[in-house]
Amino acid sequence: MKKLIFTFALIPTLAFASGGGHDSADPLTTSAAHPKQMKWEFDGFFGRFDRASAQRGYQVYKEICAACHGLKLVAYRNLKEIGFSEEEVKQIAAEASVTDGPNDDGEMFERPGLPSDRFVGPYANEQAARAANGGALPPDLSLIVKARHDGANYVYSLITGFMDAPEGFHMNEGKYYNPYFEGRQISMPAPITDDGQVTYTDGTVATKEQMVIDVVNFLQFAAEPETESRKKMGVRTMIFLAILFLILLAAKKAVWNKLK
Ligand code: HEC
Repeated sequence: MKKLIFTFALIPTLAFASGGGHDSADPLTTSAAHPKQMKWEFDGFFGRFDRASAQRGYQVYKEICAACHGLKLVAYRNLKEIGFSEEEVKQIAAEASVTDGPNDDGEMFERPGLPSDRFVGPYANEQAARAANGGALPPDLSLIVKARHDGANYVYSLITGFMDAPEGFHMNEGKYYNPYFEGRQISMPAPITDDGQVTYTDGTVATKEQMVIDVVNFLQFAAEPETESRKKMGVRTMIFLAILFLILLAAKKAVWNKLK
């Protein structure tokens, strides 16, 4: 009996030890920290995209992240959904050089991009991407917010989370310490390090924080352009159900009044 009581007494202690181990105070841990929890405009029942922020985020992606990361599931014309005009989209697409073909001579050729083209990536192939990044592959960012648990908060935390490794932490060559990345060392150097790294065309001050928030808004849009219409549909469904409920209530009352 004594043994049994002892075992039961031990259970909560063990649970606490393993549960608390995740965000462990051990500075040398290699398990990833929980992402910081931010408030996003696209979260919640009435969530919608902050279009101005997503547009700025596109600028951050293009001027910083696109040096290493592709966005191959997004077409230039999709940018209209965050408020770029037809003309702007044409211009953005035309700046890209798209490999097309083969032509009548059987050769591939380069042409300016069209709104219907998908984003052109920075590398010709995976080998080229790895060769340029010390063997690591910068993942395509089209779906990254969906592909990672708590994606928007994760990307925000990752980009703002670079810091010096704690004393005694074993760092591999060419890696950077980041507590939000599994293993806590990542092959990506901190991409956003200084205020004013981009100059926003809308006049917003490009603090580090602002640039990260904007790029997350943009990547959320890239990964889930349907977020907004899905939520609108949800609201409409609730309104429909509320009206239906009132009608049924009235019908029920009418029927029972007759029967009484
Ligand atoms: C100099 C090249 C470079 C730039 C610029 C860069 N990245 Fe990366 N990024 C990488 C590499 C390489 C990896 C793969 C890291 C690894 O696997 O260790 C990566 C990985 C990532 C990941 C995935 C982490 C995971 O969980 O797998 C995200 C998200 C990311 N980058 C976002 C960004 C954003 C946002 C920007 C722009 C603000 C950016 N990166 C700019 C090279 C870059």
